[in-house]
Amino acid sequence: MYFGVDYYPEHWPEERWTLDARMMREAGMNIVRLAEFAWVKMEPELGVYDFSWLDRAIEVLASEGIQIILGTPTAAAPKWLMDLHPDMYPVDVYGLKKGFGTRRHYCPNHAVYIEHSKRIARKMAEHYADNPHVVAWQVDNEFGGPCYCQSDLREFRKWLNRKYDTIEALNREWGTIFWSQTYRHFDEIDLPAYSSSDGFSQNAGAGDLSTPHNHNPGMLLDYHRFFTDATVAYQKAQIDEIRAYTALPITHNLMGHASDLDYFKLGKDLDFICWDNYPNNMWGKASPSSASMAHDLMRGIKEQNFWMMEQQSGPCGWQHMGDTPEPGQLRLWTYQALAHGAEAMVYFRWRACTVGIEQYWHGILDHDGIGRRRYREIKQLGAELAGLNDVFVDSQNVSPIAVIKSYDNYWSHRQQPHNRKFSYGMLLNAYYDAIADQHINLDVTSVETDFAKYKMVMMPAFNLMTAEISAKCEAYVAGGGALLITFRSGTKTWNNQMSTLTVPGHFREMAGVELEEFDSINFGRTVKVKAEFGEGTAAIWADVLNSNGAEVLATYDSHYYAGQPAVTVNRYGEGHVYYVGCDLDAVALGELMKLVAQREGLVPLLREPVSGVEIIAKTKDGQPFWVLLNYTNEGKRFEIPGDHVSLLDGSSVGGLITLAPYGVMVIRQQ
Ligand code: GAL
Repeated sequence: MYFGVDYYPEHWPEERWTLDARMMREAGMNIVRLAEFAWVKMEPELGVYDFSWLDRAIEVLASEGIQIILGTPTAAAPKWLMDLHPDMYPVDVYGLKKGFGTRRHYCPNHAVYIEHSKRIARKMAEHYADNPHVVAWQVDNEFGGPCYCQSDLREFRKWLNRKYDTIEALNREWGTIFWSQTYRHFDEIDLPAYSSSDGFSQNAGAGDLSTPHNHNPGMLLDYHRFFTDATVAYQKAQIDEIRAYTALPITHNLMGHASDLDYFKLGKDLDFICWDNYPNNMWGKASPSSASMAHDLMRGIKEQNFWMMEQQSGPCGWQHMGDTPEPGQLRLWTYQALAHGAEAMVYFRWRACTVGIEQYWHGILDHDGIGRRRYREIKQLGAELAGLNDVFVDSQNVSPIAVIKSYDNYWSHRQQPHNRKFSYGMLLNAYYDAIADQHINLDVTSVETDFAKYKMVMMPAFNLMTAEISAKCEAYVAGGGALLITFRSGTKTWNNQMSTLTVPGHFREMAGVELEEFDSINFGRTVKVKAEFGEGTAAIWADVLNSNGAEVLATYDSHYYAGQPAVTVNRYGEGHVYYVGCDLDAVALGELMKLVAQREGLVPLLREPVSGVEIIAKTKDGQPFWVLLNYTNEGKRFEIPGDHVSLLDGSSVGGLITLAPYGVMVIRQQ
């Protein structure tokens, strides 16, 4: 298994490299990522290349048995390059140029920047093609969201022309008759940037909006699609350059839940997925389940195991810092990643830097280069993981349920969230938690997945629909699958128009319900819900449903629609469709999902839920094993079924067990 760090030899005197490499080896490290921001050092002037320092760094690392991932440096173009074409800088939605001083200061649609990116990727690939120590490549660093410059405008028009072919088709799909927006030619189309109605927001107070939000919904959605395609093409241009020289695997480091780009599309050209995880950062702390869900999504991008390319290893932040990882947390986060499908672990970063905006972003070593508590913990972990090499690499996760994430739906909801408190991302999280808290494992994947692999597929608030997706859902349910949908499912067309079908649109027949009306819940009001599984409240949305034969699982218990169905289940062919017409508080949603799991024969891994503890079921070569993780700083005592052996120390594990604070167990049933 690969175990290592992100290392920046260019930040330190060469005399130090030997000690760094030795300390890495002593910590059990065998891989290092290099060079992804070192453009100016590799090409100090246009066409003048110097890889000698990098060659020496690689030699020093290799002499300690450490292998290399090389990153192309295109996320940090040198000033000399930007000065050649200042229009390569990105432009924000307000038309302001974002200048030099940090990184990601380019537009991926700029033809000249693309050429320079290809050139540096090619030069690196050519130089390192035969270097035996390089084992993988990373393209760029953390691609991000839209730019609004003139290159985008040119390319957006071409993209639209390719997509719609005729301007009439575009006018129809965007509904440009509204407010006289009709276009005569593709060349009349501008970018969906700051519009005259922006600044006047009907959405003040909502936290999950993209800008601009006052625009033609079809155009806004297409802009996100266009920008994803542009980024995919930009990435591909570099992949092709590298591929001309080497067959080594190529990746790009993703950012978990970040959703400005469609990661399913970005992932298609990559050999493997990797991602960057900072659970305690300057903005707050990710809940353990949010990090678990991000891992599951990363596994779902290609439906294969992934690498951690940057795993937090110290207190971090730019202007201010998040909490320092407590003793045991680095180990816990490492096993959490491995449990969810990581099979290589690279920590960010080796040593905190003394300069630059990230001088507070700590790594394993502090600024003085001395290995203290965090280094000792990583070293211990390195020794422990060496013994588990065969366990995690090529292991598989076993999940009976899939949560479907759709970036198109994400963008549509983010632009117009239906209710100011609604967030598609948070709704997916809520369903994920309601299942995961019962110790039932999940996959998070795209609507393109093979539904037949799952006992249940959850598509919360999947509002943009097509006849094809509908047919896929129907076939799955008719064949015995369980499908869960919610309020706002099936309300729109794929290009973001409101559907004229009676809600829930394409899902209506399957779900056996139709909407009489709905209640968007605002200003602190709540709606009561009652059911056999308990009572609860809705605080965002309540669909008032008419059942066309669906069984009613919960009804409303307040407001003028008291007594009408809130949650239903309908038999369709051999399977079931659950319709959850409202948001529910976490406790009620947990109870509902317990009932759903029981009805669908989804068996939890533990008899009773243990809060703060996660259990992940995996297999390796057909042999099942479990990873147990305690996310709390107190010991947890609970019973596990069966007799197991610990893969960490060979001890017998069974019956009533104690999982230490931030403790981990990896066990196999005997
Ligand atoms: C990541 C990025 C790294 C480093 C780190 C800390 O998002 O890829 O290069 O900047 O964050 O900010």
